[in-house]
Amino acid sequence: MGRIGTGNQRKIILDRFIVFEGIDGAGTTTQIRLLAERCKREGIPVLITGEPTENCIGKTIRQILKGEHQVHPSTMPFLFAADRNEHLYGEGGILSSLEKGFWVLSDRYLFSSLAYQTIENDFRQVRELNSRFPLPRILFYLEVPPETGIHRIQTRETREIYEVLAFQQQVHQQYRKVLSTYQKSGMEIHIFDGTEPMETIHEEIWNFLKKFRY
Ligand code: TYD
Repeated sequence: MGRIGTGNQRKIILDRFIVFEGIDGAGTTTQIRLLAERCKREGIPVLITGEPTENCIGKTIRQILKGEHQVHPSTMPFLFAADRNEHLYGEGGILSSLEKGFWVLSDRYLFSSLAYQTIENDFRQVRELNSRFPLPRILFYLEVPPETGIHRIQTRETREIYEVLAFQQQVHQQYRKVLSTYQKSGMEIHIFDGTEPMETIHEEIWNFLKKFRY
């Protein structure tokens, strides 16, 4: 675990913590699955996790995303941050798994809040809310055009409130801003072309990870 200076803030970076990000339909879930299978074959202990989590706060978030409850847009950053706090510090969460020697692969983390919740809320406020959280050692961003992402999720049975093209186009823009914000954070940020075949991306990810020796 290392302390890295980012401007005035000193951020904790968690080794063996890898986050996958992208707009909806970018393919993060598929890549995490492929990487976890590969790690298991290689005898590397991994925890596959993601946000929103499966805990009570995450479940409430999913109900809101499905349109089952309505909340004010300014409530959403707090819900995601509360879910994240539990994800990090709760039983069986990110920190306890890292302490046990696992690699933790997370489908989304605070970068999602910075890309999604900043469309309806002030960027600095959302960033401030998430500034308490440690950063992952590695951030993988899967880039796909919003049209491709929407096309891929069209077959899903339920549509979530954010899964419309106009919103995803804004999320796509916000991610660019987020990635540039973290350029000098000390994290390893790697951007992949999410339109490539999933096996090709997986091999690129695996080759990238080979460089890491902990
Ligand atoms: P997603 O990973 O797409 O889950 P699923 O594939 O099961 O639908 O995540 C659900 C949505 O939550 C997605 O649209 C992104 C959104 N989200 C935020 O808006 N902010 C956040 O901080 C996180 C973690 C997710």
